[in-house]
Amino acid sequence: MIYLDNAATTFPKPQSVVREVNAALTRYGANPGRAGHYMAMKAGKMIYNCRVKLSQLLNAGNEENVVFTLNCTHSLNIVLKGLLKPGDHVVISDLEHNSITRPLKNMERDGITFTQAAVYENDNDKTVQSFREAINGSTRLIACTHASNVWGLRLPVERLASLAHEYGVEILVDAAQSAGVLPIDFEQSGIDYLCMPGHKGLYGPTGTGVMIAKNPEKLMPIMQGGTGSSSISNEQPNFMPDKFECGTANVAGIAGLLRGVEFVSSKTPEKIFSHEMKLTKKLYNSLASNKRIRLYTQYPNEKCYAPLLSFNIADKDSETVARILNSDYGIAVRSGLHCAPSAHIKMGTQEIGAVRVSPSVFTSEYDIQRFLNAVNKIR
Ligand code: ALA
Repeated sequence: MIYLDNAATTFPKPQSVVREVNAALTRYGANPGRAGHYMAMKAGKMIYNCRVKLSQLLNAGNEENVVFTLNCTHSLNIVLKGLLKPGDHVVISDLEHNSITRPLKNMERDGITFTQAAVYENDNDKTVQSFREAINGSTRLIACTHASNVWGLRLPVERLASLAHEYGVEILVDAAQSAGVLPIDFEQSGIDYLCMPGHKGLYGPTGTGVMIAKNPEKLMPIMQGGTGSSSISNEQPNFMPDKFECGTANVAGIAGLLRGVEFVSSKTPEKIFSHEMKLTKKLYNSLASNKRIRLYTQYPNEKCYAPLLSFNIADKDSETVARILNSDYGIAVRSGLHCAPSAHIKMGTQEIGAVRVSPSVFTSEYDIQRFLNAVNKIR
């Protein structure tokens, strides 16, 4: 199969990831922090090592502020539900995934409100201005994606962080499509809360996610339970990372993530981005020359886009096109609404969705050419 659905989860994973998951499951995967025996200690050290490697890759400062979660949605819920109080207002973008909009919609019943600010393609000044206009006296948080999982449009998160701080507001960034692909310097960026999956651009297994907080003391934990620390107390520990990590950790998943983060660090996000961007541009140029193809975004320049793009063949339903690509050509893409309905409403594709192509570091020019040949035939 030619796998072009890396924005959903990267595939394949590096062999080092596969080997480490196997080692955890067969050699040392005991319960970390719960016992002093060799296997539990080794599992604990591996998890600590993964925290350090993530912290180095993202310049997160203190590695204890790196929290392991189940996925990016879990991380986002920890921040949104741990931070916001009745009466608080949040500014989000019009490109958000349901992982931000659904928790916020649900929190409306607690008196939390939110406003969507428009993102302007290739015009960061206008985007920042639209966020500025959406801020009001009750705004507590800006919560936005770093890059749209549908259109690849990037948000100027560093500028939005400055804007937020100008108004005494914090900023949460959903790095679902950017972690491991776009360079992120947490300390320098001004971002207060950074959430990401471990299984996309960081090449770890599914079931892994990360939340990094600059000021974790501002968040109330949304879960309580065993941590292996301060066990005499029936209160959740207030120190990091135990405050947000309870129950048995995903040892095999984090073991794989450790090797995934090492893989990304050794390749460097800059090189990965440049490889994937080259393929995305090739895709764009070829699709753009085809009159029956509907593209919704402009040419993907490095400054304003992440390496993925969505299109349609005339007004054919995207699910049909994806099904044919799968069954007749052995090509995996994602179609439909990508769990981001407002991003589709923005482009008028809420009825037919769009066919999304997302390369990874393992995607070759040949894969892209095979995909383009298949699209030509379907059209
Ligand atoms: N959010 C993931 C995607 O865009 C699953 O496909």
